[in-house]
Amino acid sequence: MTTGNYNIEIPELNRYFGAKFGGGMYQNIINLIPPHKAYFELFGGSLAVFRNKKPALYSHLNDLSSTITPVYLKHFNLPNIKISNLSAIPILQELESLLDPIDSFIYLDPPYIKATRRSIGQYSHEMSDDDHRVLLDIINHFRCNVMISHYPNHLYDLALANWNTKSFKVMTRHGWQTEKVYFNYEVPTKLHDYSYLGNNFTDRQRIKRKALRLKSKLSRLPELERAALIDMIKNDFIDSIHIAGHSTSPLCTFL
Ligand SMILES: C[S@@+](CC[C@H](N)C(=O)[O-])C[C@H]1O[C@@H](n2cnc3c(N)ncnc32)[C@H](O)[C@@H]1O
Repeated sequence: MTTGNYNIEIPELNRYFGAKFGGGMYQNIINLIPPHKAYFELFGGSLAVFRNKKPALYSHLNDLSSTITPVYLKHFNLPNIKISNLSAIPILQELESLLDPIDSFIYLDPPYIKATRRSIGQYSHEMSDDDHRVLLDIINHFRCNVMISHYPNHLYDLALANWNTKSFKVMTRHGWQTEKVYFNYEVPTKLHDYSYLGNNFTDRQRIKRKALRLKSKLSRLPELERAALIDMIKNDFIDSIHIAGHSTSPLCTFL
């Protein structure tokens, strides 16, 4: 399944602390995710990104909290979705040599380090600064595309100095915060999911209206004329067309 998304209501995970739901957060993140066939979200929480992006052919969802993973099992127990209840660190250690560098994408949203927090104790499992150092060291060795979210902080800025970053101002329950994403690849020119393209709500609406106008124009053309135009677009723009899950590169080793 490569179209639509899992944007279903999960009351058990409403208002999850640190969720990437508000202030355009998951939209900003999805606008930086390149095409992939295998998706790994290992600090899952309420899974704001996974639930709103187009599915990959294979997904691995994990959280160390044993109260959360049964919720995943209840809502997403499909054959192409693996669910686990482990620390992300050993999972990453195991994945490092197994993942296909082209077709895999890892999104990580660990608990914020203490120096950046206004309150602590929201999760049943927290991470020490040393845990973060280990995590950063592991992901620095990955060859596939990895993105990690955090509030801007010295530890991450230093450990991921060679990575690209993008910062977003978001409204949280504690007021305005800067959320920063660090990613080990170039700003993508092709996306896994174009649903949220645009800088903000108004810009996204503008792009959606443009797409609808074009679609409506095409649908009003005589069939052969429409086919000729689509054929021309395919031929002239084939390099810039990405259809999620339909790339020709070999499948990665799914676990
Ligand atoms: C910032 S929240 C993730 C929020 C999520 N992106 C969302 O949209 O709701 C961090 C999550 O990491 C989990 N966690 C803490 N330590 C972990 C570890 N070592 N391995 C995996 N998950 C962990 C917590 O239970 C929490 O759900």
